[in-house]
Amino acid sequence: MSRIIIFTGKGGVGKTSVISAHALRAARSGMNTLLVSADMAHNLGDVFETETGGELAAAEDRLTLLELDPSKIMSEHYPDLNLSIAQMLGGSVSRAAESIDSRFMIPGFEDLFMLLGIRDLYNSGKYDLILVDCAPSGETLSLLKLPELLEWYMEKFFPVGKFMTRVLSPVTDALYKVKLPDSTAMDQVSEMHQNLAALQDLLKDPQVTSVRLVTLPEKMVVEETKRTYMYLNLYGYYVDRVFINRVIPPQPGSRFMQEWRQIQQQYIEELESVFAHIPITQIPWFPEEIRGIRAVELLSRELPENPVLFARPKDPDGSGTLLNGAETYEVTEEGYVLRLRMPGAESVSVELHGQDLDIRAGNMLRKIPLPSVLHGAEIMKTEVKDEMLSVFFLPEKARLSRPEKT
Ligand SMILES: Nc1ncnc2c1ncn2[C@@H]1O[C@H](COP(=O)(O)OP(=O)(O)OP(=O)(O)O)[C@@H](O)[C@H]1O
Ligand SMILES: [Mg+2]
Repeated sequence: MSRIIIFTGKGGVGKTSVISAHALRAARSGMNTLLVSADMAHNLGDVFETETGGELAAAEDRLTLLELDPSKIMSEHYPDLNLSIAQMLGGSVSRAAESIDSRFMIPGFEDLFMLLGIRDLYNSGKYDLILVDCAPSGETLSLLKLPELLEWYMEKFFPVGKFMTRVLSPVTDALYKVKLPDSTAMDQVSEMHQNLAALQDLLKDPQVTSVRLVTLPEKMVVEETKRTYMYLNLYGYYVDRVFINRVIPPQPGSRFMQEWRQIQQQYIEELESVFAHIPITQIPWFPEEIRGIRAVELLSRELPENPVLFARPKDPDGSGTLLNGAETYEVTEEGYVLRLRMPGAESVSVELHGQDLDIRAGNMLRKIPLPSVLHGAEIMKTEVKDEMLSVFFLPEKARLSRPEKT
């Protein structure tokens, strides 16, 4: 089974350098490796000192580079989909459009085609390993939450499937002033819906996809790394390694450098305590830029040895389900409890919003559509303990049959 590893981190921390080192190592140890850039400011060509130009480009044996272009993927592989989705999401959904300002319902909608492109490359079966070089953290998070967000919107505004369309069409027309698309376009909505579901299955399966964080031992970068990690967890992505880049080596050098080294050590300790359960790799600050195969090779020697570097995640509690990611429900005496693992979350707020549970952490919002048994339920209690968010619900039925307190 092939594998996808996504790299992210603050701007300029060394994502492209570290991912290139992974690519070289993988290819030279016999894996068919594809290194794709999902950062619109592509620079793989610069690092490998070769022309890429938006097409698959061979860097060396078993190593292919590709700079993804979402509009190209859209026009070549999903030519009709975009048009009909755009029409539906923008042109004809008056009620929905009130809260949405552009032609597309969600900013960055086109970037979805980048993810679909990665999925298609994965499905081609040509590669053992697909490494994804991302734009700085904020944009990556917007990208990675797209499939879930879009699926949520689609389920809200378009009854998925033809049968549903026919039955609900007059009702939705009158109620919501939603002009439901014709059947061809509706097929495409269904197709899109399936695509989104499949994409999430792929990206949130820790046996297939993991995320690696690249950081620096500096205050602002450490803070951003912690936030990114929390948000990735909120959306159910599996983070399997952290790289602390540009660590000043311990050689006796100038006092200036040694003082910097001491400052760095504080942040390294902080990172080690925050990411105590995730492997961390330190990478030294090289006296030169990471440009060209030779420099990438040098950096790749700093990565852990092979079986470790590309090992798949182990199931931490042996139960068959990884704790990272998806929410789970359990029955309690009075109702139900939803649990979501949220390491690093300091302040979390939870609110019912129609049939969704809105979870806010920092400036991120995740909407979890609740199962029907919890529609009309009340939140009794919320707690965050041992990195686990628990939301206790009292279902409507139980509430109605509860004796009045006198
Ligand atoms: N360990 C290192 N030692 C010395 N220079 C480094 C190291 N890691 C990265 N660099 C240099 O730092 C600069 C930024 O690195 P890189 O382009 O890999 O970062 P990035 O996170 O991909 O940046 P962006 O957010 O702009 O995509 C480059 O000039 C690179 O050569
Ligand atoms: Mg980069």
